[in-house]
Amino acid sequence: MNVLDVSGMTVYYGPVRGVEDVTLGVGQGEVVALLGANGAGKSTVLKAISGLVKPRAGQLELDGRDLRAVKAAARVRLGLVQVPEGRRIFPALTVRENLELAGLGTGGRAQRRERLATTLDRFPLLRPHLAKLAGMLSGGEQQVLAIARGMMAEPKVLMVDEPSLGLAPQMIEAVYDLLVGIAATGTSVLLVEQNVTLAFEITQRAYVLQQGRLVLSGPSRELADDPRVVDAYLGAGPAPAPRPS
Ligand SMILES: Nc1ncnc2c1ncn2[C@@H]1O[C@H](COP(=O)(O)OP(=O)(O)OP(=O)(O)O)[C@@H](O)[C@H]1O
Ligand SMILES: [Mg+2]
Repeated sequence: MNVLDVSGMTVYYGPVRGVEDVTLGVGQGEVVALLGANGAGKSTVLKAISGLVKPRAGQLELDGRDLRAVKAAARVRLGLVQVPEGRRIFPALTVRENLELAGLGTGGRAQRRERLATTLDRFPLLRPHLAKLAGMLSGGEQQVLAIARGMMAEPKVLMVDEPSLGLAPQMIEAVYDLLVGIAATGTSVLLVEQNVTLAFEITQRAYVLQQGRLVLSGPSRELADDPRVVDAYLGAGPAPAPRPS
């Protein structure tokens, strides 16, 4: 049984189609990729799952529970956490403050302190930077902080939007290792990526979006050799220009 089930999800921004009829599922402890070119609708799917945009149609279930009437903040408490595109950490707060803020509203003070300790054990790279302003961290360290902050909520499903953007290859590998480690502890990961080669390496299954519609899905190792994946990217318009982080 899946932890997360999305079916027939359709989102419009006024007259602009975000996604149409998207159906996908994520199993427990699975790492699943959602792929596609710029504008394909990847972030729209994550936002609709998080409750940040309201779908025009479709079903959404977490552990079999219908979430359609559940507000965004309550979805976080139920275990759906999104690490947004561009990280969105608080640059003028310290690393510690960023983590502590993420733990607010869940459990008592002792429990939050314990969770911070667990988080630092899991993301030891952050430990020497605790007192630093988050805005002073490197891009890769900020991405790790964003993921660690998401994990402070102890989610069932962690959704990560393009974590590799603007990072050096070595740092990308470190971030991906973290995601694999997170899944190994039972939290499912839904990974949005433009970099298909990398995504296929760490995911079990993948879905490919093209211009708002799912065009391919299956085991990552099969899709890695499927020429239709390349078509989905090239068929979506001009090649995506590199973006600054
Ligand atoms: N707030 C918005 N208002 C109007 N249109 C939007 C809005 N957000 C997204 N769109 C449109 O919806 C479509 C899907 O966008 P989305 O951001 O989901 O793509 P994406 O796959 O995440 O792209 P990228 O890789 O560039 O982040 C695009 O055509 C986009 O222009
Ligand atoms: Mg996006």
